[in-house]
Amino acid sequence: MQLSTKHLLGIRDLKSSDIQLILDTASQFKEVLQRPIKKVPTLRDVTIVNLFFENSTRTRISFELAEKRLSADTINFTASASSVSKGESLLDTVNNILSMKVDMVVMRHSASGAPHFLAKHIPAAIVNAGDGINEHPTQALLDAFSISEKLGTLQGKKIAIIGDIMHSRVALSNIYLLKKMGAEVTVAGPPTLIPKYMKDAFDINVEYDLKKVLEWCDVANVLRIQLERQNQVLFSSLREYSLAYGVNKKLLDSLNKEIIIMHPGPINRGVELDSDVADSKQSIILQQVENGVAVRMAVLYLLAGGGANQN
Ligand code: CP
Repeated sequence: MQLSTKHLLGIRDLKSSDIQLILDTASQFKEVLQRPIKKVPTLRDVTIVNLFFENSTRTRISFELAEKRLSADTINFTASASSVSKGESLLDTVNNILSMKVDMVVMRHSASGAPHFLAKHIPAAIVNAGDGINEHPTQALLDAFSISEKLGTLQGKKIAIIGDIMHSRVALSNIYLLKKMGAEVTVAGPPTLIPKYMKDAFDINVEYDLKKVLEWCDVANVLRIQLERQNQVLFSSLREYSLAYGVNKKLLDSLNKEIIIMHPGPINRGVELDSDVADSKQSIILQQVENGVAVRMAVLYLLAGGGANQN
């Protein structure tokens, strides 16, 4: 089977069959990654550039590792160390790189829509590694993979996304994906951090009470306060945010069930999540990171035109 799309720009326009194909292919790559020799020759002679115009730890390393595991040739580009700092445009930068015969572009950019703009102007396949406050599709795919691994399915599962929903590309991609795959979604946080249009636009629940949403859900995906994307005061202080919306052990122990705790990282320990929760057996945060490599291998492989078994 093949993907119905040339690029991975977001989850919004992805078919549920594409999502399922990526998750199934990632399972095969996860099995490859358990072997003593973790490398396969699948993308030999494919050249991929990782264009990061914004900081990243997990996504950048994960894509690079996925490319190396698939035997692709990789080039890493950091905006601050490039001619972008001399005023070169995004399109000129990318066209110069592509003239060196690059097949695929993985891009993170602070401007929402930057990868969509590039997709209209260049022939290479583009993977969105996070664009502004728009989407972070591979994060949503690895989150879905991790939930399915724990619970067997996404269908009918109750997923809470808690925190700074307004500025989160992780929240948006997760909402699109979880709804397409039959999960129930509630977003929770302070009213000032949840856009009013969301409830009706996405057919999701909105909850402002942390205890209530934790009592409801099977999985809590806790998000960071994205201070770098906020240009106005939307809550009184980090301390007060933490008192009202910080997930801590006492709160989890007061529930009559054990829920799964997720976080895309980086964590602000002691703000949205306490250390004794982040590091507990309820937390699958490091499993999310581990699964990110297999999921990104699947995305790159499928966009490169793959579709056969991985053995
Ligand atoms: N989850 C995530 O995107 O982390 P990085 O910003 O470190 O890539």
